Amino acid sequence: MENKTKTSTGGDKVYIFDTTLRDGEQSPGCQLNSVEKIELAKALEDLNVDVIECGFPVSSPEDFNSVTEICKAVEKPVICALSRAVEKDIDVAADALHFARRGRIHTGIGTSDEHIKYKFNSNREDILTTAVKAVKYARRFIDDVEFYAEDAGRTDNEYLARVVEAVIAAGATVVNIPDTTGYCNPWEYGAKIKYLMDNVQNIDKAIISVHCHNDLGMATANTISGILNGARQAEVTIDGIGERAGNTALEEVAMAIKCRNDYNFYTDINTKKIMKTSQMVQSLMNTPVQANKAIVGRNAFAHSSGIHQDGVLKNRSSYEIIDPADVGVAESTISLSARSGRAALNFHYKNMGINLTKEQLDDAYKKFLLLADTNKEINDNDLLIIVGVSKVESVRKIQLKYLQVVCGKNSVPMSTVKLDIDGEICQATSSGDGPVDASFRAVKQLVNRKIAVEEYLVQAITKGCDDVGKVHIKIEHGGNYYYGFSANTDIVTASVEALIDAISKFI
Ligand code: KIV
Ligand code: ZN
Repeated sequence: MENKTKTSTGGDKVYIFDTTLRDGEQSPGCQLNSVEKIELAKALEDLNVDVIECGFPVSSPEDFNSVTEICKAVEKPVICALSRAVEKDIDVAADALHFARRGRIHTGIGTSDEHIKYKFNSNREDILTTAVKAVKYARRFIDDVEFYAEDAGRTDNEYLARVVEAVIAAGATVVNIPDTTGYCNPWEYGAKIKYLMDNVQNIDKAIISVHCHNDLGMATANTISGILNGARQAEVTIDGIGERAGNTALEEVAMAIKCRNDYNFYTDINTKKIMKTSQMVQSLMNTPVQANKAIVGRNAFAHSSGIHQDGVLKNRSSYEIIDPADVGVAESTISLSARSGRAALNFHYKNMGINLTKEQLDDAYKKFLLLADTNKEINDNDLLIIVGVSKVESVRKIQLKYLQVVCGKNSVPMSTVKLDIDGEICQATSSGDGPVDASFRAVKQLVNRKIAVEEYLVQAITKGCDDVGKVHIKIEHGGNYYYGFSANTDIVTASVEALIDAISKFI
């Protein structure tokens, strides 16, 4: 890895060091087996990360084995293995990296007074000596040695500068300045990196790396601040998974650098693979991201308020700083909710091939708002129903062909139902406690199955008696529950259609 690569295209390169398989995998519930780790390592290679830190080989035979297998499976990125500043750890890490085309040992020790006193019961001078010895020892095995000053975030800057200078002199090619506890804020962390850039004599002989944790929600801000102040490697994980509140998220750093030309940096990340890799991590590690997670959350490219939707439909740059295609998302979504406006509704209808006149749109919008008040999400089928088209009916195996009911005061409710069941026409007449009950009995007779209606809900979309009524139904058959839905200005027809909709789920 060369130092501070200048290019004619985009300023300095920032190397991306991915530690999803080491710091990320350490978090509870994220453990992967070797096969899964290899699969993820290959995806990271595809994403074009520069370095993959894939384990702490001395920690377990499984970790050792997966580092070895990843070295065999992955070609382009540097493969890095973690160790403490302990000879045995370094021996095992070097062994595990045996098959790496380009390997790196990442060794280090805590440098804050808290670590020196409580973890090591030691003093600054002895820790410095141990650090230097570890780097020299690791260099016997490999040319690329990264040193980490654990808890550098809380380490006194003057002492940290002495450590950094000494480990570079001992042969470290990269020096990692971790904010291990996520304690720093962006200006402090940036100032720390600047202090090192200004005060370490041999700083040009190594790359300074930033490794931030998110305990106060500032990992990405600290990482960017470190880069702006001289760091040229960022240690990150996919989706920001990692110890406690996690590490810096790869996708956030890569996209911050990509969309801010004024930073004048670039990474080699193939950003179009970001979403795919994130989804792989979410599924392999069972760590779904929150809907509003930057870059990869379900809502990251969803516009929901009427004002924003109107703005985006006029020109996407009004409310989008990232082209979703740049991160592998097909397109941004104009989600429909009670806060959506006519422009968004019309946009959805147009996408469905339905062109409405102004009056039709006004009418549809009124019904839409009433529906959106009760339903969290409005789907395409709801939209079709609003304008009186039903998509579901045409693909069902059972079709309602005819329905006639007799009901009213002092009469016995009767219903005649004609169905087309998979091409066969059949008819039944039944009485009941009301027109709906009579119709349901006739339907049950025709389908000849044991069905119990568990829930039945009729709602009007608007308050007018001439308007569409929605029917939701839940039925039980053979110990399973099935749901049906329909809408019609005739609520008996809507009820029978909803029942047929539910029955169609198991016939
Ligand atoms: O957060 C940290 O300090 C680390 C080191 C082991 C690099 O993960
Ligand atoms: Zn860490």
